[in-house]
Amino acid sequence: MSNNLLKGKRGIITGALDENSIAWKIALKAHEQGAKFVLTNAPVAMRLGAIKKLAEETKSEIIPADASSIEDITNLFAKSQEILGGKIDFVLHSIGMSANIRKNIHYTELNYDFYMKSLDISALSLHKMLSVAYKTDALAEHASVVALTYIGAQRVYPFYTDMSEAKAMLESIVRNFGYHYGKKNKVRVNSVSQSPTKTSAGNGIKGFAEFFDLADMQSALGNASADSCADYCITLFSDYTKWVTMQNLFHDGGYSTTGVSTEMMEKIS
Ligand SMILES: NC(=O)c1ccc[n+]([C@@H]2O[C@H](COP(=O)([O-])OP(=O)(O)OC[C@H]3O[C@@H](n4cnc5c(N)ncnc54)[C@H](O)[C@@H]3O)[C@@H](O)[C@H]2O)c1
Repeated sequence: MSNNLLKGKRGIITGALDENSIAWKIALKAHEQGAKFVLTNAPVAMRLGAIKKLAEETKSEIIPADASSIEDITNLFAKSQEILGGKIDFVLHSIGMSANIRKNIHYTELNYDFYMKSLDISALSLHKMLSVAYKTDALAEHASVVALTYIGAQRVYPFYTDMSEAKAMLESIVRNFGYHYGKKNKVRVNSVSQSPTKTSAGNGIKGFAEFFDLADMQSALGNASADSCADYCITLFSDYTKWVTMQNLFHDGGYSTTGVSTEMMEKIS
């Protein structure tokens, strides 16, 4: 159902890899709510080809960009404004990658080249995007930037290894750049801390399926789905949240404030 919440808005959506991607659902809902946007992902992700289907469905163009390359990001913002016909009103940062996780390397033995890549791709990329946009004045007044994150930034999840630190850095960039961009032209920057979700990035974590069920049991409302995460992000891109900025917003069915659920107690008794 459309309420035209994003009618007339121009956006950039990163991270739609396949139909399970959280960004994929956000793109579908943004289209439904009347937004025009550009889709982007790493050039290597283009090879999988699925993003073309999403582009057709949402009548959007694709601009390949490696989120760790300032050159690619500069091109992304310039071309997006050309294609969409004006400054950008919303940006979704939905990017995460850890070779340490992919290769199942234990936290105490992290490969530091991989570690630096995790930080660069999963966290610094947000700073680079905001910095390019700031310098080129690419974001409209009251534009909204949302980055997806995980509670591993605040708590220990042994399987999340270097992504814990990447997400902590990402959330810090949200606060710090949010301050500067708010002062500049009222641009707001927030992160949404999402429940475990069955996507390519999620499923890449060892033991994810079991952990998904535990988190579901530990949340008053159960795990929040990718679809509902998309709904939440749409509200953050809309004009109904104009004074929300520099926040880490939990979208997790109550998981983050639950000590223990009765279901968990029953499971171990
Ligand atoms: N799946 C979960 O359980 C979960 C929970 C909380 C937060 N998140 C976060 O949500 C975001 C989206 O992940 P997802 O779960 O939809 O998985 P996903 O695998 O569908 O999305 C991750 C995206 O990052 C892109 N990416 C990787 N390296 C890149 C680069 N160098 N340049 C540009 N893009 C690059 C991938 O191509 C992919 O599209 C990530 O930030 C992830 O950490 C996921």
